[in-house]
Amino acid sequence: MKIILLGPPGAGKGTQATMLMKEYSIPQISTGDMLRAAVHDQTPMGVKAKEYMDAGDLVPDDVVIGIVRERLQADDCKNGFILDGFPRTQLQADALKQVLAEVDKQLDSVISLQVETEALVGRLTGRRTCSGCGKGFHLQYEPPALDGTCSSCGGVLVQRDDDCEATIRNRMQVYHQQTAPLEDYYRREGLLTVIDGMGDISAVQRAIVSTLQGH
Ligand code: AP5
Repeated sequence: MKIILLGPPGAGKGTQATMLMKEYSIPQISTGDMLRAAVHDQTPMGVKAKEYMDAGDLVPDDVVIGIVRERLQADDCKNGFILDGFPRTQLQADALKQVLAEVDKQLDSVISLQVETEALVGRLTGRRTCSGCGKGFHLQYEPPALDGTCSSCGGVLVQRDDDCEATIRNRMQVYHQQTAPLEDYYRREGLLTVIDGMGDISAVQRAIVSTLQGH
């Protein structure tokens, strides 16, 4: 199964990708996670990406396309993958098409999660991530058993640098300007399904799985 999850910041792409990864035994390819790892490791790419990410702007296309191109050639992508946060521009979508054609693969489905703006702000300001294992939580919707502590590994929960309200609002604007037009791009290709992402996490998951079963 080769899937793209589209949707604004906080729509639940990462949350749903983690579940789909288990359901279909295919890897989640999150450009956000890969860029954050590069920032953490202070690689040259990470140093360059950090200023864009902190501002809530998109990292330049050539950087992101390069990392996805390399990742898609890995062995674990042979049976499929879930792209989470890529593509985000028309140029990235065109590059993806070319990379997949080179390896004789085709997308099966593009799912776009729709969530109201104020709900997105609430989801992102309340999001916490384990600094140890990376597991995601939400202070209200998916709280840890113990405040500030990961229920899986006991690690410390942290807030992402770009999850402050001003940056969140810019990320949303960037999404509407540069990424939302990709819905039409994939609609024209007959791949797009729009799913209501306002339900709880398991309701959204059921809707996604039922869509994918139809493919
Ligand atoms: P990235 O990490 O991709 O961030 P994003 O797209 O802004 O998306 P998020 O990870 O914030 O949200 P999500 O939709 O995954 O929601 P989640 O499941 O976590 O990108 C970060 C930055 O990297 C970008 O701004 C850019 O600078 C750069 N970048 C990345 N990719 C790039 C690209 N292709 N090109 C250029 N630059 C790129 O859920 C959020 C919270 O809500 C969680 O707490 C969760 O528990 C909760 N939640 C989830 N679902 C529900 C639900 N149904 N009900 C209630 N709560 C829910």
